[in-house]
Amino acid sequence: MKHPRSKKSQLITILGILVSALLASYLMIALHDRVAAPAYQPEPVQDAVTPEITEEEPEQVEVQKPVTAISTWPVALNDEQASSLTVVVNKKHRLPPDYVPTLKSVSGGQMRPEAADALAQLLTGADAAGLSIKIVSSYRSYSTQTSVYNNYVKQHGQAEADTFSARPGHSEHQTGLAVDLGNTNGSCQLETCFGDSAAGQWLAAHAQDYGFIIRYEKGKDAITGYQYEPWHLRFVGVSVAKAVVALGKTLDEYYGVPAGDYQ
Ligand code: DAL
Ligand code: ZN
Repeated sequence: MKHPRSKKSQLITILGILVSALLASYLMIALHDRVAAPAYQPEPVQDAVTPEITEEEPEQVEVQKPVTAISTWPVALNDEQASSLTVVVNKKHRLPPDYVPTLKSVSGGQMRPEAADALAQLLTGADAAGLSIKIVSSYRSYSTQTSVYNNYVKQHGQAEADTFSARPGHSEHQTGLAVDLGNTNGSCQLETCFGDSAAGQWLAAHAQDYGFIIRYEKGKDAITGYQYEPWHLRFVGVSVAKAVVALGKTLDEYYGVPAGDYQ
């Protein structure tokens, strides 16, 4: 005989079904959220990074920068460049017409004080070696150089004059750093044979010790723009003079600046 279910047991059954349904719905929703919701990813914690401090390379100081891309010569040096003890004055670099250096008297001539003091020591050194050397020409102003050059042009024509005399503004003598030396007895004055004289030989060997170089060396005409002048000394300071001589270069080559002819 079938026992009819009591009302209580029917209620329990209904409640059970309802609870089961609720649980099932909850599980389904939870599962759905798990699949659909992106996993939470915390922002990566960035360590506080101290920026690395790198020391900048010190700027290279060049005495005279080479000018490589220029079609019009000569380059006009300014007063600051003109007053550098290592300025390169040649057929492609000219001094301002009104440039006048500070001058100091030395053995009947005038030169920049640094050069004058060095020359006084050189002359003392030459004297100690039994040589008698005199100044033939030292500082020359722009206008003096104009007269000197124009006279040579009259005598020899411009093409030839240009091989041994600088046009105004192009002479190292205007810097007060150049000097022409000669034997006191006047032999071989401003002639290439001065290079063979005892004084010329001594200068070629010792000028660098006093900060001078023979500026226009034998066989370097195409670079310097001038014939050999064993009497023309240029002050550049002892370290540069020694380096130039050791390398066997002209001052133009040493600083890598354009030289040669006017154009
Ligand atoms: N003799 C040299 C080149 C000058 O005139 O300065
Ligand atoms: Zn000279």
